[in-house]
Amino acid sequence: MRKPLVIGNWKMNGSQRSVGQLLDGIAGVANLDIEVAVCPPFVYLAEVAARISGSGIRLAAQTLSEHESGAYTGEVAGSMLADVGCQYVLVGHSERRRLFGETDVRVARQFERARGAGITPVLCVGEDAAERNAGATWQVLHRQLEAIADVAGWEALGKSVIAYEPVWAIGTGATASPAQVQAVQVRVRNLLGSGGGATRLLYGGSVSEANAAELFAQPDVDGVLVGGASLQAEEFMAICRLAVGGSWKPW
Ligand code: PGA
Repeated sequence: MRKPLVIGNWKMNGSQRSVGQLLDGIAGVANLDIEVAVCPPFVYLAEVAARISGSGIRLAAQTLSEHESGAYTGEVAGSMLADVGCQYVLVGHSERRRLFGETDVRVARQFERARGAGITPVLCVGEDAAERNAGATWQVLHRQLEAIADVAGWEALGKSVIAYEPVWAIGTGATASPAQVQAVQVRVRNLLGSGGGATRLLYGGSVSEANAAELFAQPDVDGVLVGGASLQAEEFMAICRLAVGGSWKPW
């Protein structure tokens, strides 16, 4: 069974004070029969780890270094993320790919570093508007997935979490229709082969309280990656509650 997974990606937002308030505001998600994770900025990871300890909320990071350790000023290693209690880490988020030059090759290395540190990678894939308009959505996704499989193997990919995040839908208020998302997820699952039945496939891109229910209603949407709406405690709670409705999809 695939337990629903809701991940809040806080991106580069917050302060010690606001992080504490947000965690207080979402404490109730621990009572829901789903998995919830939050991705604070690096500097708040240890503090968030201490605050959520024992709550059932999981800790996730927003990215990690492709290197193991050493003279890489400003980088954070997978082993460090594991050390402070991260269970998940985003890899290949489109903002990292687009703004920080993360190529398919680098993303594949990061994916392997995460696995090496015992952390489950949440691989983000998605096409931009031009690619979509050119009808190249599947080509792009296939390329991004294959780049990981070439290095880690399909089986390892199937043991990760995969988030379909169309770039044009992130932070824009535009969302892919639930039917479009479902169609993509089925293709991703088929590509993963026999292990793919257990893989959790998330959707991300302007997820809100208003559109979450119809996304969760899709048989192959096993959760969501939430950006902007994860910074509002009430709204994030509402999205998590809606995930319970689409709970425990069979495979
Ligand atoms: P958004 O971000 O919900 O603000 O569109 C999603 C993401 O970047 O993962």
